[in-house]
Amino acid sequence: MCDISVDVFDRSELTEDRILILDFGSQYTQLIARRIRECGVFSSILPYGTAVREIESFDPAGLVLSGGPATVTSEFAAKVPAEIFNLGIPVLGICYGMQTMAAQLGGRVENALTHEYGYTKVRVISKCPLFEEIVKFNADSKANLDVWMSHGDRVIELPHGFETVAVSDHSPIAAIADTQKHFYGLQFHPEVTHTDQGKRIIERFVHGICNCGSSWQAEDFIESQIQRIRDKVGTEKIVLALSGGVDSSVCAALLQRAIGEQLICIFVDNGLLRLNEPQSVKMSMMDSLGVNVRFVDAQKRFFRELKGVKNPEAKRKTIGRVFIEIFQEEAAQLTDAKWLAQGTIYPDVIESAAFHTATAKVIKSHHNVGGLPDTLHLKLLEPLRDLFKDEVREIGTRLGLPREIVYRHPFPGPGLGVRILGEVKQQYAEILRKADAIFLEELWKNDLYYEASQAFAVFLPVKSVGVVGDNRAYEYVVSLRAVQTEDFMTAKCLRIPYEVLEAVSSRIVNEIPNISRVTYDISSKPPATIEWE
Ligand code: XMP
Repeated sequence: MCDISVDVFDRSELTEDRILILDFGSQYTQLIARRIRECGVFSSILPYGTAVREIESFDPAGLVLSGGPATVTSEFAAKVPAEIFNLGIPVLGICYGMQTMAAQLGGRVENALTHEYGYTKVRVISKCPLFEEIVKFNADSKANLDVWMSHGDRVIELPHGFETVAVSDHSPIAAIADTQKHFYGLQFHPEVTHTDQGKRIIERFVHGICNCGSSWQAEDFIESQIQRIRDKVGTEKIVLALSGGVDSSVCAALLQRAIGEQLICIFVDNGLLRLNEPQSVKMSMMDSLGVNVRFVDAQKRFFRELKGVKNPEAKRKTIGRVFIEIFQEEAAQLTDAKWLAQGTIYPDVIESAAFHTATAKVIKSHHNVGGLPDTLHLKLLEPLRDLFKDEVREIGTRLGLPREIVYRHPFPGPGLGVRILGEVKQQYAEILRKADAIFLEELWKNDLYYEASQAFAVFLPVKSVGVVGDNRAYEYVVSLRAVQTEDFMTAKCLRIPYEVLEAVSSRIVNEIPNISRVTYDISSKPPATIEWE
């Protein structure tokens, strides 16, 4: 695998104020980082056990301790290194983060009899810089914060120097502060949108308490990154595997802006792409942006290698292996290339095995960090490595990529290979491509494309009887799938109006002779997955 330690963008090169989040594995940790960045402040996530030396080298203006699924009351409870409380920087503990801060600094935490999940009203009872200009502290009994709680443990005894600044019905200690040391704790989650004043509380922490400016902006990112890329790469050449997806396209557009002709993109047509994909990449990347792209038509090779392979994981592996072989062969011809660029983005980094901690979430098997082998002996360049998807999209838009590329639905690496059930054949791919294109075209026409997070057709290699004109047909079946999801971990089917489904079905059966029947998949994830394989 690639040497992912070669991170060209050293933390020490960052000039912006930054906040570091120490992660205890909460499902909301990424949201904390995003909310902070929405305040114009750079933020990163590291595992809770990160050595203090490393934390210091990041030079954070403040620390946030995330929530987490575990209990502080266990003797094996996860802890941050005690020295972080001596660094002289503000700390905000959220849920588990507040509980561990309280416990580590000498307070007491118990497993509450009544667990609080969902909306709760909280009353700020004492003046606190975290809530300044957001709520007035309330001497009477009226609650003034609508918050989202999700906890089992609660703090029952404060550490020395702390006071209770907010209460709820089930948490006599819902927020705590040591205003001398700038340590704050919230039992609720300010990072989720359900907490009405959450964004403002986070703003107060980063701007009011940590004194961060607002210098993290997309335009500045582009300019500073272009300079960094030029400084690092000099006159050397870079090779990039362009897939046509958002991340690699934005990466190519950024590198093109930075070093132009020195960038060579390789686009491999594996025969499992959507209809007209190579043409669309040519138009958007080569013709509009002037990116240098080498097209490799490897369709026959992929179908040959996939012959007889039926198992989904075996298909994924075959497609991945053949892609790597082809990419290596192509890159080897570019003897003067010294760098390999990848469109890795921040969620890939967080979800990668290198980042995995005992408390973190399940890793996707198909993330792309370190996805290409090191036999290429190239230096790795990942200019989007610190960005979230919405930031990548904003940068892509500013770099002049069309909206249809920047906001297109995700497409899996193995492409139609996991949408043709069982053995993959060229004939099936051709049929499926057409059906898929009709479905997407109708979604666009009916203003439904962006209602779906992902929409596609699936090829079922079974035959079904139909009547076309006066003739009996005995042809294949396709199923349509359109889902709505925030994070692709859970999803529900998009409620497409029947008229639209009927129109799609009728067009598919009439325009594609090999299909006699169309179904719509209404399964949720879980228990179904989004892809059929
Ligand atoms: P599932 O099917 O796991 O899909 O519910 C969740 C998201 O992941 C995408 N997906 C993949 N992406 N390689 C990829 O690059 C894969 O092997 C793969 N399998 C699923 C899927 O399209 C959806 O967005």
